[in-house]
Amino acid sequence: MALRNIVKIGEPGESALNSSTREVKRFDDRLKILAEDMIETMHAEGGIGLAGPQVGILKRIFVMNVIPEEGDIIVINPEIVEKDGESVAYEGCLSLPQMYGQVKRSTNLKLKYQDLNGEFHEMEAEGLKARCIQHEYDHLDGIMFTEKLIGQLVHESQLSQEEDNNNDDNNQTEKKDDLIAEEE
Ligand code: NI
Repeated sequence: MALRNIVKIGEPGESALNSSTREVKRFDDRLKILAEDMIETMHAEGGIGLAGPQVGILKRIFVMNVIPEEGDIIVINPEIVEKDGESVAYEGCLSLPQMYGQVKRSTNLKLKYQDLNGEFHEMEAEGLKARCIQHEYDHLDGIMFTEKLIGQLVHESQLSQEEDNNNDDNNQTEKKDDLIAEEE
């Protein structure tokens, strides 16, 4: 296993973040190594999700670890087949460190995808996990969360200030719970 370099906005190679990606067709050892590297990189950077383009690989693969008990999940050739509800919460991205912004996402979804062996699976997700899936899915279509912002992008130092200022807001607790600490 090896750490991969994360492509960041404003750095060389950033065009990978706005590129379309290809379906994974070969479920070989190379794909397994890529997935292992992505998982290791995601954990090393303190993220809960990481998509192929973020390590310069224009293939339809992402990894995530949102619910610790579920462990690492490798998602290949995903398709969101159902969506329901709407929620707004802050998101961040390993390709844009320390910056956060609010994005509207579906609250619940159903995802079809393949694993490393090419086997098909179906997964239902809600809340932060559903949000993470939609964020990573967007990466596979070359879309950064900054293209879907509600309001402004804020630095993490401003974010904690903003939350302090909004202490009377009833939504506050919910917002914090849904906050995506690093990448989602
Ligand atoms: Ni991201």
